[in-house]
Amino acid sequence: MYDTDVLIVGSGPAGSSAGLMLSTYGIENLVITKHRWLADTPRAHYKNQRTMEVFRDLDVADEILAKASPKEVMGNVVFCTSLVGEELGRLPYGANRAQRQSDYALASPAEHCDLPQTLLEPILLSNAAARGSHVRFDTEFLRLDQDEHGVTAQVLDRLKRERYEIRAKYLIGADGGNSLVAEQIGLPMEGHMGLAGSISIILHADLSHLVAHRPGYLWWIMQPGANVGGIGMGLLRMVRPWNEWQIVWGYDMSAGEPDVSEIDAVGIARQLIGDDSVDITIRSVSTWTVNQQYATKYSRGRVYCMGDAVHRHPPSNGLGSNTSIQDAYNLAWKMAMVLKGQASDRLLNTYDQERAPIGKQIVERANKSIEQFGGIFSALGLDANLDAEQMRVNMSVLKEASAAGAEKRKMLREAIELKSYEFATQGVELNQRYASDAVCPDGTAQPAWQRDPELYYQASSRPGARLPHAWLDRQGTQVSSLDVVGKGRFTLLTGLNGQIWLQAAQRLSEELDIEIAAHVIGPGHALQDLYGDWADVTEMPEDGCLLVRPDAFVAWRKEDSSAAVDSLRAALRQILGNA
Ligand code: FDA
Repeated sequence: MYDTDVLIVGSGPAGSSAGLMLSTYGIENLVITKHRWLADTPRAHYKNQRTMEVFRDLDVADEILAKASPKEVMGNVVFCTSLVGEELGRLPYGANRAQRQSDYALASPAEHCDLPQTLLEPILLSNAAARGSHVRFDTEFLRLDQDEHGVTAQVLDRLKRERYEIRAKYLIGADGGNSLVAEQIGLPMEGHMGLAGSISIILHADLSHLVAHRPGYLWWIMQPGANVGGIGMGLLRMVRPWNEWQIVWGYDMSAGEPDVSEIDAVGIARQLIGDDSVDITIRSVSTWTVNQQYATKYSRGRVYCMGDAVHRHPPSNGLGSNTSIQDAYNLAWKMAMVLKGQASDRLLNTYDQERAPIGKQIVERANKSIEQFGGIFSALGLDANLDAEQMRVNMSVLKEASAAGAEKRKMLREAIELKSYEFATQGVELNQRYASDAVCPDGTAQPAWQRDPELYYQASSRPGARLPHAWLDRQGTQVSSLDVVGKGRFTLLTGLNGQIWLQAAQRLSEELDIEIAAHVIGPGHALQDLYGDWADVTEMPEDGCLLVRPDAFVAWRKEDSSAAVDSLRAALRQILGNA
């Protein structure tokens, strides 16, 4: 007897998303979380294009955009000595840089935006609950036992102080960086925790007069001590424009965890802002450490982990919540199809195969971004720990009309440009390529990267890549190719000469009892390629087809329509684990 189909431990970005997705796909689920409410500090803000595409599919993007700061407000990444001090340089964030605008516009129908976890989680979880998720706050996961039919979790009702059991067919461990679930199922981890210490201060201060004329969301502040611990430099981070802020300031771990009083926190804030007339209210102070750890396997038996439970890294590149949400998007449709009896449980093995390499990649990327601040310190002659006066003297060379001054200015420009690897990594965000049994290779080799794959997205319709974006016309409305896939079902896309694929899709939909949406894109059909962009990005002749998974990744493609039913059947059976 089961209490629910899927028990989700944790209501952060991963757990709330998993609940929302499973409910959207019609799967019964229960989200438990140990606190009385959701995130109480802003933490992850940045939502990248891929995450916003996922939110479009889940019909929550408009709600999120209505509350988020748009990309224009995210504006610049600023490097300075304080908000009133010298400005060393600026890097427009992502698509805000003129040279990169078309890269971002061509890659996705969605724009990145900024929304703190305090506002995101209620949107995700309330939509999950509205669509069917059960939610229990003040409910702490304690331990689990599993057998071949299900998982029994022992939990604590923290209000009644009573323990009880919940029996589920599957359990998702979305319980964050100190995951008890991952520990109990013994997931193998690589890397290290606690590499550097950070103090996080959340504050209210109206800084409009210092920032509104040069909008930005990250203000990196070079001051004595800025290279001790932390995430590369002192940071003032916009939470809400322009009166809610977060400070990240490092501490020396060898001296132990600091006891930061409210007075100390105000002192750090005043030092970074530099304008003593500003009223500051401290909301909270906490410490956390920089981690570099990832699991090489995400599941054991009927227990699947996601989010920070399996990848632990600093906030650099803003990959934490994005990757957590995308983990959930990868697993949810697979779990739904297995629970509905449409796929074999072998499909679930592909979650590890596909997501573990991504976790490793983002942990390494985020930590490398911290190191890449080093060039800015070197360019300014600030490698050693200097006091304020020495720092002023060293930096004064920047203003010299001399060969030495010109050399320093060049070094600084190059060092700031290197930070594009933290603030414009569209490639890291969109270039995932999955290789697993849920992807059918078509015999072609992975195309060589035309440009740096961390910075630049490269469209591909090769199986294992995310479906390329192209704007289409749907009876007078502009939609993206990504908008016609998803919704928890497979989609087959073909051209005017491939209409036989529609019959093949219909037949296999009935035979395998799965939903396959099938579309011809071309003149006279509901979807038209009026700009001609789709014809380019599909890389397929008109009688070929693309089979797209519910998570918008290309599962299979075929260049012509010969043996349509048999070839589609073979592909689907392999993907569903029924081959
Ligand atoms: P998360 O930690 O958010 O959620 C875990 C959930 O599990 C919580 O609901 C918790 O209550 C619950 N839980 C834990 N143990 C439990 C138990 N035993 N029983 C029941 N429930 C339990 N990322 C980013 O992308 N951009 C950014 O700007 C930042 N900034 C940032 C700043 C700071 C100060 C921190 C500490 C972190 C960030 N991050 C970030 C990282 C980001 O916050 C993180 O990657 C995501 O919150 C991960 O989401 P998860 O849902 O995996 O875990």
